[in-house]
Amino acid sequence: METRVFNHPQAVVEGWYWLARSRDIRRGQVVPLRLLGRDLAVFRGADGQVAALDAYCAHMGAHLAEGRVEGQALRCFFHRWRYEADGRCSDIPCLAGKVGPQVRVRHWPTAERYGMIWLWTGETPAHDLPEVPELVGQPCAALVANRFRKRCHPNVVLINAIDEQHFASVHHLPGSILSMEALPRSVSNIEFRNLGKVPTDSLLGRLIARFYQGPLTYTMSYWYGSLGTVTLGPDFLHLHLMFALRRGDDGATEGQTLALTRQRRGPLGWLVNRILLHTTALAARYFAYGDTRVFESIRFDFRHPIPADRAVLAFIRHLEAQPLANWQEVDRPGARQPVARLRQAATDLGAGDG
Ligand code: FES
Ligand SMILES: [Fe+2]
Repeated sequence: METRVFNHPQAVVEGWYWLARSRDIRRGQVVPLRLLGRDLAVFRGADGQVAALDAYCAHMGAHLAEGRVEGQALRCFFHRWRYEADGRCSDIPCLAGKVGPQVRVRHWPTAERYGMIWLWTGETPAHDLPEVPELVGQPCAALVANRFRKRCHPNVVLINAIDEQHFASVHHLPGSILSMEALPRSVSNIEFRNLGKVPTDSLLGRLIARFYQGPLTYTMSYWYGSLGTVTLGPDFLHLHLMFALRRGDDGATEGQTLALTRQRRGPLGWLVNRILLHTTALAARYFAYGDTRVFESIRFDFRHPIPADRAVLAFIRHLEAQPLANWQEVDRPGARQPVARLRQAATDLGAGDG
């Protein structure tokens, strides 16, 4: 199957991607991070806001994470040029304040939620951070759970949760327990909802069916082909997970699992939240490790789709239409300035001195 976006080794869909845990970047700290093959200097200013800049200084390309945070800005270690959180250079010490607006490094929008720092791979975010459909607009409690690696593309990891056949063949659930309906919600978001009722022709089936009036609750909300929320659990208690995935330099998946729940108030509410979040994190471990063997050796090649793969096909079709980010372009380290421009700059500076 020929695809432009799905399982592509370089394509970056425009969207929110996880960068780091909030607690990994303290106030006044700058850290070097790499996201989808791009080097970044990410810092937290004195006001607590996180900013993400392309890593290499506009002057000579020193890595800005070697520098230090000053208020809400970042100063390069090498010749001490200063960059504001929006990437604009606001001070060149040896020019006594004369800085043209063209001197800047690329800035990327960031957000902080669920105990994580996120980056939008484009100019301006087209929407807020993804939420669990059942929790939209509600305050959430979150637990940053396990981090994992899989030796295949994030898109391939995500289809696992909607691959109906393998729930019987790998996870030994009763055969017809899942029947996923695809519901595209926006250009970036597609939901999958289970319509299948628990079959009661086995002891396990009869046991599970006691907890469900209608279909077994199993709802996925997928964004950018790399972030997915999962809602599951009996009618009286829904658990919510978020799997935030990104492609590492070697093409493998770097995953971060989050457990989420509706924020309950008071000391008892706090306790209930903690218990639910830790229970959810245990369920997440099962999901994340359940098919590890396959993800170590698979070379995904979808040569013979069958009708039972229709949810997977709906996911691929939806992903193929998503906007790609201009992620590889601009400000590559070591990119040479044309010699004429360098000469002109030297002349301008000489004239300024005289
Ligand atoms: S390389 Fe950053 S100020 Fe010179
Ligand atoms: Fe699985």
